[in-house]
Amino acid sequence: MDSIIQVDQERCIRCSYCADVCPTDVIHMGKHGPEDTGNHCIACGHCVAVCPREALNNLKAPLSNQVSIEKMPVLDEKIAATFLRARRSIRRYKPVAVPKEKIMQLLNIARMAPTGGNSQGLAYYIIENPDTLKAITAATIDWMEDLIKNTSPMTPYFTGVVSKYRKTDQDVILRGAPCLIIAIAPKNFLPRGRDNTHFSLAYAELYAPTIELGTCWAGFFEACALSGYQPLLDLLKLPTDMTVTGGLMVGYPKYTYKRLVDRKPLQIIWQ
Ligand SMILES: Cc1cc2nc3c(=O)[nH]c(=O)nc-3n(C[C@H](O)[C@H](O)[C@H](O)COP(=O)(O)O)c2cc1C
Repeated sequence: MDSIIQVDQERCIRCSYCADVCPTDVIHMGKHGPEDTGNHCIACGHCVAVCPREALNNLKAPLSNQVSIEKMPVLDEKIAATFLRARRSIRRYKPVAVPKEKIMQLLNIARMAPTGGNSQGLAYYIIENPDTLKAITAATIDWMEDLIKNTSPMTPYFTGVVSKYRKTDQDVILRGAPCLIIAIAPKNFLPRGRDNTHFSLAYAELYAPTIELGTCWAGFFEACALSGYQPLLDLLKLPTDMTVTGGLMVGYPKYTYKRLVDRKPLQIIWQ
């Protein structure tokens, strides 16, 4: 068996941190330092990242792909709390396109989110064409209308949404956002793909304000796509083995929020 671990014996101080942090026990400490047990490596990169001496390389998570964080600033707790609390779902956007570089910035953070077993496994479709965005909204409304006719549990909620759209032509689904990020995954990767999507898009959502963007989860769109509504799927033209796992509207926020909102009281049970 070829080892995926390479140890620089000159640098290694046998601290065993690499073996200690490995989630799947790939590494154990042998006579001459870290050794590969042949267990399944999930390529999380922890063994390489925790090494205080850059003594370890892992062929599945190479040292050369990692970035040193020796000078990482520690976030002030109040700033961090305010930043997290100040995140808002943005439903009004300036009529300005989002540059591709900013979408790339967002997705390069999104792909760093945790995923079950480090499975990752998502791809992203970016929809910017205004006609396609309008058609997605129209298809989602048609789907809602069908459900209303068949009295679904969502009927009371959907009725208001559909009626507003029919009366005003306002984009009540994608909120007039100039860009929709759609996460997709292989169909046989559900439900893990959806879990991974939620973390990945949450990362994008939190990062967005730092590059002047605002976002909102496209839950109606996601539900419509996941229901398999064919007119919507026809618009997306996904490969047949792929499914939508989530959607995020993106654009420049029209308004800024002046206060932090509250939530329901914290419910907590100490055992
Ligand atoms: C999974 C999920 C789906 C959502 N779907 C929609 C949606 O389709 N349309 C919308 O306007 N907001 C949507 N939202 C936003 C929620 O309504 C919003 O998070 C909530 O009202 C709290 O507001 P805040 O995000 O500004 O704190 C969604 C949020 C989540 C987490």
